[in-house]
Amino acid sequence: MMFKDQVAIVTGGGQGIGRAICTAFANEGATVVVADIDLAQAQETVHTLEASLSTALAVQTDVSCAAALEALVQTVLARFNRIDILVNNAGLGLFRSVESCSEEEWDRVLNVNLKGPFLLSKAVMPILKAQESGAIINMVSLAGKTGGIVAGAPYSVSKAGLECLTKALARELAPYRVRVNGIAPGIIDTPMAAHHPPAFIEAIPLGEKGRPEDVAAAAVFLASENARHITGEILDVNGGLMMD
Ligand SMILES: NC(=O)c1ccc[n+]([C@@H]2O[C@H](COP(=O)([O-])OP(=O)(O)OC[C@H]3O[C@@H](n4cnc5c(N)ncnc54)[C@H](O)[C@@H]3O)[C@@H](O)[C@H]2O)c1
Repeated sequence: MMFKDQVAIVTGGGQGIGRAICTAFANEGATVVVADIDLAQAQETVHTLEASLSTALAVQTDVSCAAALEALVQTVLARFNRIDILVNNAGLGLFRSVESCSEEEWDRVLNVNLKGPFLLSKAVMPILKAQESGAIINMVSLAGKTGGIVAGAPYSVSKAGLECLTKALARELAPYRVRVNGIAPGIIDTPMAAHHPPAFIEAIPLGEKGRPEDVAAAAVFLASENARHITGEILDVNGGLMMD
C-alpha cells in the first residue's frame, strides 16, 4: 500500500483517465477526493471505489473558478485534515484551429486547462509546504509539444503552458521536498480521443491507443516514494508516437 494514510485530490476524476487514476490510488490505500464539474460522474467513481472499501469523496468543482477551488480545499481539510497528492487532470478537449476559435472558446480552454491547475496548486501549496512532503502531477499532452496534430492551437497552447507551469512549480516547491511532475499522454482510449483519424492511431509504434490504466500507472509511480528524486519531469505515455 504505497499511499496508506495519504489524501489525494484528482480533478476530472469522473471519467476517463481521471477515474483510472482514482482507482489506482485507492488500490494503493489512498483516500481519494474526486473533484469534477459533473457531480453524478464523480459520485459514480466514488461508488466504484467504495466497493473496494476505500475512503472516497465526490465534490462538484469547476477548476476554472478560484472560489470553487478554495471551497474544495477547505472541504478536504475539514473532512480529512491533510492533502498529500494533487493530480491536475481535468481538461477540456475543445479542439479548434486558430481561425475557427472564438475568443470565448480560447478563454474557456485556457481557464480550465491552465488557469485551473495554477489556482488549485496555489491553494494546496501552503499545506504541502507545511508538511514538507507531497506531490503534484499535471496532465499535459503530446499536443503541447507538437502544436496539436489534431488538437489545434488553444488546447495545445494550454498544455504547453501547463508543462512550463509544472517546471516553475517544481523549482518553487523543491526546497520543501514537494515534487511536481507532468504526464504527457499520446492517444488514450477515452471519450476525448474518440474521433482521432485512423491514420493517427496506426502511426503509434506500439500499435494501439493507450488505456487510461497506462496513464494511471505513471501517476502512481510519480506520486510514490519510488520517484523521490524526480521533479520537473514530463513523462510521456504515448506508445512511442513521439520520442523526445
Ligand atoms: N485522452 C487522451 O488521448 C488524452 C491525451 C493527452 C492528454 N489528455 C489529458 O488527460 C486529461 C484527462 O483526459 P480524458 O481523456 O480522461 O478526458 P475526458 O474528457 O474523458 O474527462 C475529462 C474529465 O474532466 C472533467 N472536467 C471538464 N471540465 C472540467 C472543469 N471545468 N472542472 C472540473 N472538471 C472538469 C469532465 O467532467 C471529465 O470527467 C485531460 O487533461 C486531457 O487533456 C488526454
